[in-house]
Parts: sequence; C-alpha cells; structure tokens
Amino acid sequence: MKEKKRDEFRKALREIKNLPTLPGIVRKLSQMSEDPETTTEQMGKVIARDHILAVKLLKLVNSAFYGFPQRISSIDSAIILLGFNVIKGLIISASIFEFMEEQDIELWEHSLACAVAASVLAKRLGVKDPEEVSTAGLIHDIGKVAIKMELPHEYEKIIAMVAEKKISNYEAEREILDLNHAEAGGWLTKNWNLPAKLVEPVSCHHDPRLAENEQMTSAIIHFADLIVRGMGYGHGNDIWVAPLSQRAWRLMGLAPSDLDQVLEEIDEKLWDVRGFSLEVMHETEPEADLD
Ligand SMILES: [Fe+2]
Ligand SMILES: [Fe+2]
Repeated sequence: MKEKKRDEFRKALREIKNLPTLPGIVRKLSQMSEDPETTTEQMGKVIARDHILAVKLLKLVNSAFYGFPQRISSIDSAIILLGFNVIKGLIISASIFEFMEEQDIELWEHSLACAVAASVLAKRLGVKDPEEVSTAGLIHDIGKVAIKMELPHEYEKIIAMVAEKKISNYEAEREILDLNHAEAGGWLTKNWNLPAKLVEPVSCHHDPRLAENEQMTSAIIHFADLIVRGMGYGHGNDIWVAPLSQRAWRLMGLAPSDLDQVLEEIDEKLWDVRGFSLEVMHETEPEADLD
C-alpha cells in the first residue's frame, strides 16, 4: 500500500504538470550543445531571445557569489567563462525561481545563500569547477518546489505535521510521502537532462553517503546547506539544522582553523547578496550595456 502511494507520488513528480515551461529552452539548448557544429554565439542568441531570462542570467553571473573580477556583459562570455552546464543550471534556477518568487522567497534566499557557501567551500577545497558546485547549491532544494506544485494537498499536510509534531520538514515528507525532496529533486533534474554532476548532489544533499560519483560536491552541498541554515538562511517551515554527516566532514578535510575563515568569508559574501534575490527578480528591463 505504502509502495503504491510512493509510486503515485513519484509519478506525479515525474510528470511535472504544474512547473513552468523552462524545459523548452533548456531542451533546445541541450540539442544544440550535442551538435559539435554549434557555436557559442548561436547558443547565446537563443538565450538572448528571451530578454528577461537573459538579464536574470547575467545578473546571476555578475552576482557576488561568482566573484569574477570583471563584469560579464554578454551571454556569450558567460557561456565561455562558466561552461554550458552551469548556464543550463542557471537558466533552470532563474526560470523556476521567477515562478516561485511570490510564494517562496525564503527558499530562493536559502538557495542563493547555499550557492554562496558552496562556492566558498569549493574554492577553499580546490575543487575543479567551483561554479558548477555553486549551481548545485542553487538548485539543491528544487524538489521542494516540485512537491509544492505537484502535490499541493500533501504539501499542506507536511507543513501542518511540521508545526504539530515539531519535526523537520524532511522527516514530515518521509512520513507523508514516503520520499523526500532530495529524491524528488534528483528525479526532476534527471528529467531535465542536467548532468550527473548536478543531479547527484541534489539527490544526496541530505545524505551524502549515497553519492557514488560526486562525493565531494555532495559533501559540500550538504555542509553548505547546514551552514546557511545555521546562519539564519533557512527555509521557513522548520527550525532544525540537521546533523553534519561525519563522512562528508572527513572527505572535505577542513581544519578547525580553516573553518573559522570559511565561515567568516561566507558571512561576508552573504552580506553582499542580501537583497539580491529581490533585486534580480524584479529586474525586467535590460541594462544599457547588455547586448
Ligand atoms: Fe534540502
Ligand atoms: Fe536546503
């Protein structure tokens, strides 16, 4: 019986009827990226056609958490600098979060903060492609959006159970759906054909032991999530900060003195991005120097 319900929820989350239309542009770009003849300019043109999306994308790229010294004023250079997979993740984030800004600004802020923390950790640990780790941070809780949109009735029950039993959102999801938002996010990002580098950290961020290939990124996202929750950038439903996975901690190998510096740096960067979510979401006109 429970298995049947789980399958039903799983199916509902996989079909994604109520989520926004982002897969259109992402699918188009994915096809283009598979063709070796496609140039960065051609991809840039497809993105630039969606004016609002292009502006949001550039704002994200120029935000404090990417920390490029120079201003990136074109989609083409963003693709070159960040790589196509990061851009794809960012398009998804920008589209998804545009859609939920009115409903769930807290989750957006939490996600941005997690991206900031993940990027600081990735750079400190010398991980290759810290931007990709940051993007994983940005979309790590995407499964929460999926649950909210696709299973609104169950979502209400989850909220009520959190308040009533004083348990975490994660535990309530398991009770009610027999699955959790990390799994849901994993299915969703897989459905969107995002690379495994992004899918695994999303699906394993609450239990990084499950990661097979992306252990370090999963450990970083897990830790970044806890850090920003601890710093008050949690997502409203519950007040709990989950315990840190020992394995993730060992894998990262941070010394206590590193940790102090890392936390300080994250705190500083978070000041820079404070309010950025509102700013990026309400920006609809392209700036003069964007082409
Ligand atoms: Fe989460
Ligand atoms: Fe989170």
